[in-house]
Amino acid sequence: MRNSLFIFIVLAVTVLFISCQPGRDQANGGAAPGEVSEEIIDSLIDLMTLDEKLGLITASSSFTSGGVPRLGIPELVFSDGPHGVRHEHGRGWYALEDADDEATYLPVGICLASTWNKDLGYRYGEVLGNEAKERGKDVLLGPGINIIRSPLNGRNFEYLSEDPYLTAMMGVGYVKGLQEQGVAACPKHYAANNQETDRHNIDAIVSKRALHEIYFPAFRSVVQDGGAWSIMGAYNKINGQYATHHEYLNNVVLKGKWGFDGVVVSDWGSVKDTREALLYGTDIEMGTELLRDFDNPEYDEFYMARPAKEMIERGEVDESYVDEKVRRVLRLMQRTTAMSDHGQGKRNVEEHQQFALEVAREGIVLLKNDGLLPLDKSEIKTLAVVGHNATRHFAGRGGSSQVRALYEITPLEGIRNLVGDDVEVLYAEGYEPYYDESLFRDVTGDAASQSTENIREVELARTANQALVQEAVALAETADAVIFVGGWIHGHEGMPWGEGTYDAEARDKLNLKLIFGQEELIRELNRVNDQTAIVLMGGSNVEMENWLPESRAYLHAWYPGMEGGTAIAEVLFGEVNPSGKLPMTFANSHEDYPSHSIGEFPGDGTVEYREEIFVGYRYFDTYDRPVKFPFGFGLSYTTFAFSDLELTKQNNKVIVECTVTNTGAREGAVVVQVYVHQKEPTFDRPIRELKGFEKVHLARGASATVSIELDESAFKQFHPEELRWMLEPGSYEIQVGTSSRDIKLAGSVDW
Ligand code: BGC
Repeated sequence: MRNSLFIFIVLAVTVLFISCQPGRDQANGGAAPGEVSEEIIDSLIDLMTLDEKLGLITASSSFTSGGVPRLGIPELVFSDGPHGVRHEHGRGWYALEDADDEATYLPVGICLASTWNKDLGYRYGEVLGNEAKERGKDVLLGPGINIIRSPLNGRNFEYLSEDPYLTAMMGVGYVKGLQEQGVAACPKHYAANNQETDRHNIDAIVSKRALHEIYFPAFRSVVQDGGAWSIMGAYNKINGQYATHHEYLNNVVLKGKWGFDGVVVSDWGSVKDTREALLYGTDIEMGTELLRDFDNPEYDEFYMARPAKEMIERGEVDESYVDEKVRRVLRLMQRTTAMSDHGQGKRNVEEHQQFALEVAREGIVLLKNDGLLPLDKSEIKTLAVVGHNATRHFAGRGGSSQVRALYEITPLEGIRNLVGDDVEVLYAEGYEPYYDESLFRDVTGDAASQSTENIREVELARTANQALVQEAVALAETADAVIFVGGWIHGHEGMPWGEGTYDAEARDKLNLKLIFGQEELIRELNRVNDQTAIVLMGGSNVEMENWLPESRAYLHAWYPGMEGGTAIAEVLFGEVNPSGKLPMTFANSHEDYPSHSIGEFPGDGTVEYREEIFVGYRYFDTYDRPVKFPFGFGLSYTTFAFSDLELTKQNNKVIVECTVTNTGAREGAVVVQVYVHQKEPTFDRPIRELKGFEKVHLARGASATVSIELDESAFKQFHPEELRWMLEPGSYEIQVGTSSRDIKLAGSVDW
């Protein structure tokens, strides 16, 4: 009785709103900003025509889905931005020329994950939420939480890790920090979206066990622990059905088992079937118009627009399926305050730039150091900085994650700022990116890009430019020290699509060989100057055997954001003690990775994940395969000792406690990594799995007791035959270490 009275009032209020001027906050119908009222949602659904409902669940421009002006329901505004809010598109697809859209460019996802610092994950989301809000966005399309299955995936830089637990922990913080600003996260791309080659159609053949143990957990965590309000479906198929309208993924798992009550947003153009989209959980269809005429989009043609209407009118699908989608969209609008007042947000403030610096400082990984680093600027009069990447800007490239950065400090600028006038810094480019049409081969299969240009991939680009090498060598010969800055790039100048190859969307790398003749250049620099430090950028590793043995120091900086150059300089000169740890195994070559040696990559039409659950270190460690640098590895300028492991089993939890001491000469941070090893599993199981970690900052000589709680789920595995999670009785070893291959302490518990 009270409910129907309430609905009556809501209807009356809503009708009153409609008769006034419709505006952004009217349809909230009296609910407090951020609060969900199912009654109000019901009343709004009752008022909508089928056309209005379908308009609400399909795109109305490149980055909006439709509103219902008659009811004061605004469009929902999306933006890309896993590491910075993307430039403005207006209603079309191309960047607006004179928009006020410069933004904070944070270190990319894999750099964030390398910090292994959960607090930074949360604050990363908070910065993005503020910047998105300031730009009037309701939904930010991030974080990217696909598992790094192969080092060749062109989008690995946007993702976090090869490990589901690390991905989940960093992703959950990101989602919470973002949504607390009233902006919905849209973790992507659900699921098994692990390559770019043929991304619109590739069919990933994956077992249920691998899905549940490797490819799902981060998605489950951002839903259940992070409370994500939306999720983006992936382009690819999984076991024969498109992921965006996959009955098992969406209906059974996401909305069923995990209780997700938010919105499944398609990837841009990932809906391929009206009936499936209606029945199997796609809530908003975005982007399909991009496959057609950019200037005359036919929104009516969306799978979930006119074709859906006809299907419903023919009685083939019940309208209640549409109502359910509308309900979810309205719920998201209430949560994000899209229908009321977003509040102000802030953008390009110093605090955000300082945060970008903090992430870069903690995310850069020192992989080799025979004592060369840190450099002492008082002992250097002339410093040679060599390498194209020392002066290159990265923010505006790589595909949908591009950001129009307010500024970007390059490594050369960072080094010059740090050493000041005391050191003469000379620069030589050393190598240059080039683009050789004769070396092309077509690999993308990307319908959107192929429809505009005939995109091809550069196959090899490995020949050194001798004039540039000689110039750099001449500089290096006379300098007191040399810093080489190279590695991958997001793209090639001159590529038809403007995005290029290597670390970029819609492209996978062909191998891990250093491009543009850098190996030869590094060897020459090492030969003429034994004070040479190597800094590489990129979303993955490179092959190292031809240059690493003779190199004295190697720092991997990923793409470290707008203050990346500052952070690189600070680490090189010891103003910051490096504490980044690899979130993926660095093996010798791509062929060593299980996705290539056991499974398939990139496949052909289908790609079989035959390596099963043995992804990354789960494979390398279990099968004792050589790696260059293991998962979790990263050096520091100080040393740490681990002692006093104590395991306490309480009810359904195990408390892991140990003492960590900074035994070196300066302050620093260590990541205490907890792995679980089941001693006698019935089914094949990785020799160890990461189940807990904590980053600990310690002053010189200081100790701390670290306590990490493992609940039952840390010991469970997905039963490959009964297809359910199970905790097998038996003995489990708890391993505490500083990488998957450097276990310092171990003890056992029984279940
Ligand atoms: C990408 C998504 C992105 C979307 C919108 C797609 O091509 O896969 O990650 O959010 O475009 O730009």
